Amino acid sequence: MDVPSFELTGRVAIVTGGGTGIGKAIAFGLAGAGASVVICGRRFKTCESTLRQIQEKTGAKGMAYQCNISKKTDVETMVNDVFGSLGRIDILVNNAGVTSDYPFLELPEEEWDRVISINLKGSFLCSQAVGRIMARSKQGVIVNIGSQLGEVARPNKAHYVSSKGGVKMLTKALAVELAPYGIRVNNVAPGPVDTDLAAPVLSDPRLRSEVIGRLPIGRIGKPSEIVGAVIFLASDAASFITGVTLYVDGGYVAI
Ligand SMILES: NC(=O)c1ccc[n+]([C@@H]2O[C@H](COP(=O)([O-])OP(=O)(O)OC[C@H]3O[C@@H](n4cnc5c(N)ncnc54)[C@H](OP(=O)(O)O)[C@@H]3O)[C@@H](O)[C@H]2O)c1
Repeated sequence: MDVPSFELTGRVAIVTGGGTGIGKAIAFGLAGAGASVVICGRRFKTCESTLRQIQEKTGAKGMAYQCNISKKTDVETMVNDVFGSLGRIDILVNNAGVTSDYPFLELPEEEWDRVISINLKGSFLCSQAVGRIMARSKQGVIVNIGSQLGEVARPNKAHYVSSKGGVKMLTKALAVELAPYGIRVNNVAPGPVDTDLAAPVLSDPRLRSEVIGRLPIGRIGKPSEIVGAVIFLASDAASFITGVTLYVDGGYVAI
């Protein structure tokens, strides 16, 4: 009888947006499970500082990388450099994301483009560049970070919910197409979590209690509470799981 393993020793993981918030917690978690971690984001100093903290705590190997995931040349340069330096890429966590709030009738075209190009196109570009490398080695795991708002809508979020609904379907499409190459693709969909991204809503006491009132679990999540699902899906313990969305949302979409 095989015993499931959550070990990631010897694996190389790229975490986009790994410098802050949920991505930072995920990078810490993957490193704690034994992986080398590549932290990428547009703010290099933030990525570098997070990597230093991870290395002090876990001793993990890794790299910090400045990369705008909505730019194909940035993504290809990063992926080639990571592969050149570390010799393999086993795990990609498409975590980087942005949001904003606009009533739909006032949503500027540029803002629609910005959110879609980071949240959805960025996941496409990173998955394609990393997927080509994984396909050659006939193994790999991609974990997308979607959102509960890829399943249910909220006012003022047409661009964001569309991007995260897109991530959910991109997950299924890649799971189907990449399975023959030994690549699994899944989607972790957090609910409301205290980070910079959510601060405009969650730091407003009225809006915060409105969100909490919507959550069966009765509180906002912490970045560290998203990590276990990502480690699980990235590990061999999830070897028969592909194409799923795992909600880590305090029950948000259960109602
Ligand atoms: N917090 C929540 O309530 C919540 C709920 C559901 C889903 N999520 C999802 O969780 C993910 C992480 O968000 P978070 O809450 O942890 O917010 P966060 O702390 O603001 O993290 C977002 C990260 O993405 C990076 N990023 C943004 N645009 C980028 C780009 N073009 N290229 C590379 N990196 C980029 C940012 O770094 P730079 O600015 O340095 O580039 C930042 O490190 C997002 O996909 C978000 O949609 C969050």
